[in-house]
Amino acid sequence: MTAVPAKPPVRISFVCLGNICRSPTAEAVMRHLVGQAGLGAAITLDSAGMGDWHVGGARDARSSEVGRRRGMPLGGVARQFQRADFARFDYVLAMDRSNRDQLLLLAPDDAARAKVSLLRAFDAAAPADAEVPDPYYGGPDGFDNVFAICEVACRGLLDHLCRQHNLSPVVGSKDALGQIV
Ligand code: 4NP
Repeated sequence: MTAVPAKPPVRISFVCLGNICRSPTAEAVMRHLVGQAGLGAAITLDSAGMGDWHVGGARDARSSEVGRRRGMPLGGVARQFQRADFARFDYVLAMDRSNRDQLLLLAPDDAARAKVSLLRAFDAAAPADAEVPDPYYGGPDGFDNVFAICEVACRGLLDHLCRQHNLSPVVGSKDALGQIV
């Protein structure tokens, strides 16, 4: 009997400016949804920042607190997105237009540029070019708002990945809309 080769995972990196607020939030939300769908082996997740100010440092305490409260803990430490990362990921999802434009400038070729889009492009109800707003210099509501925005967009992203890559949520788990399948 010939073993069926395992499909390689779909690899996603979420990118913001500092990699301490928005992109680790998107990563935590997506990890939660992917886990609920039983697709942890099929979809791998990462986040990074365009800037290097926070490299090696912890996530923002305000984002971490919201994640803890919502049962979607933020893990890891900040890192800077590298040109070589384009080869390591299938989707490079920017939080805002500035991140996206910087990624497009950094990308080595058309294949890399084709991997870049805004996270909110996966939110069917969001206007064109919608961003995840930077909460860093704002009040506490901004961090809850980032979570809510990421949750809607990540549900759309998971739905897209399931269709595009022929992935099925494991029976008894939850699909992108949170329905038991
Ligand atoms: P993030 O937020 O890009 O969502 O991680 C920011 C974090 C740090 C800074 C700006 C935005 N900063 O200027 O240090």
